[in-house]
Amino acid sequence: MADLTSEFCGIKSPNPFWLASAPPTDKEYNVRRAFEAGWGGVVWKTLGEEGLPVVNVNGPRYGAIYGADRRLLGLNNIELITDRPLEVNLAEMTRVKKDYPDRALIASVMVPCDEKSWKDILPRIAETGCDGFELNFGCPHGMAERGMGSAVGQVPEYIEMVTRWCKEATGLPIIVKLTPNISNILLPAEAAKRGGADAVSLINTINSISSVNLDSFCPEPMIDGKGTHGGYCGPAVKPIAMNMVAEIARNPETHGLPISGIGGVTTWRDAAEFLALGAGNVQVCTAVMTYGFKIVEEMISGLSEYLDEKGMTSVAELSGKAVPNVTDWQYLNLNHVTKAVIDQDECISCGRCYAACEDTSHQAISMTSDRVFEVMDDECVACNLCVNVCPIEGCITMKTLEPGDLDERTGKIVSKDYGNWTKHPNNPSATAAE
Ligand SMILES: Cc1cc2nc3c(=O)[nH]c(=O)nc-3n(C[C@H](O)[C@H](O)[C@H](O)COP(=O)(O)O)c2cc1C
Ligand code: SF4
Ligand code: SF4
Repeated sequence: MADLTSEFCGIKSPNPFWLASAPPTDKEYNVRRAFEAGWGGVVWKTLGEEGLPVVNVNGPRYGAIYGADRRLLGLNNIELITDRPLEVNLAEMTRVKKDYPDRALIASVMVPCDEKSWKDILPRIAETGCDGFELNFGCPHGMAERGMGSAVGQVPEYIEMVTRWCKEATGLPIIVKLTPNISNILLPAEAAKRGGADAVSLINTINSISSVNLDSFCPEPMIDGKGTHGGYCGPAVKPIAMNMVAEIARNPETHGLPISGIGGVTTWRDAAEFLALGAGNVQVCTAVMTYGFKIVEEMISGLSEYLDEKGMTSVAELSGKAVPNVTDWQYLNLNHVTKAVIDQDECISCGRCYAACEDTSHQAISMTSDRVFEVMDDECVACNLCVNVCPIEGCITMKTLEPGDLDERTGKIVSKDYGNWTKHPNNPSATAAE
């Protein structure tokens, strides 16, 4: 049986599944139940400075995007950091850590962007026995308007500066949580590393308006006739998060910096994909808000079985396995040729592949009067659109042509050699013709 124990930037946990800083980690009651359910660690709901408590709206704070079956695909929120007093959170964290010493307990923190605020609060929080800190430079609403959260996370110099202060203030690991609301994720990641961060975590939520009420002409969630942008998360953001994780993992400047992958993780498979792209562990929020703490059971058994099946003995073995295969477009092999193939036994004759290919691709699917659909190899450019729109999984597949085969579309024999754009004869900047 594969070993799921995880050591992330020196922080040990029985498995790589942590709860992200959010409502599921807002209080002792939740975190105890999460640990009982099997979660390996939690990042406590973001703590702020001492003083008057944070005030949340008293109307709806969530909006959502659904699939056709009303499965929740994306969640939008306008919640702020914890609105519970600092001393209450600290007392609860102390008790929880004492009772669950083998679980990771990380304190998420967001205070004003000055040295004293950060250096005062970290040692105080460390007294709880927590295993490390996550700096919340990501929250895109409310706190950003006060110069915190993503307002810091969008300025690499601030990230570096605050990270350095935090490293000076504590010997515990510092995880810098990055905002995706930035054009190049490498800039804040590199800044975090320069500041001495032990790890980065990403993504926090994405600026979003999830819907507009067309009677009151107001963005939702609607508070007394007005709305504001919120933070988007859930399965819909997973592709964005995975790309950012992979970018950091393969960037020479940040390669090797531990990454905690966050964004839409719902199943063991999502987690495995983040791990393969270079994450050392994953954090989960929306999936637990949708289905409850018990989903971790499927994550643990699924990942464990997968590792066994692949002959891997640890999570560390999977981590980063796909990184060498992430490349730039210009290095893709242009001599690799595939064609779509329709399995007539599976086809239900719905015609979606035909409509898609006929109207937006390469008119490569024929339709007979009795609705038999077939791919014409001499027209198919292998775009994969028919595979993507076909409602029957596995009904259309892509067949790879072997070297020496004829590509009926181009009339050329498939080459056995690798050839990319950098050497292609049509490329005016080609370094040398192949
Ligand atoms: C209601 C809500 C509140 C959140 N509060 C925080 C927070 O206080 N601190 C923080 O760092 N991230 C916060 N997040 C962001 C999550 O930790 C996480 O980064 C994000 O939701 C993406 O993960 P997911 O797709 O699994 O939800 C919050 C998310 C939601 C939905
Ligand atoms: S792969 Fe693209 S071009 Fe080929 S049949 Fe499908 S939709 Fe048409
Ligand atoms: S989309 Fe799939 S099921 Fe529908 S006609 Fe095409 S191959 Fe058949």
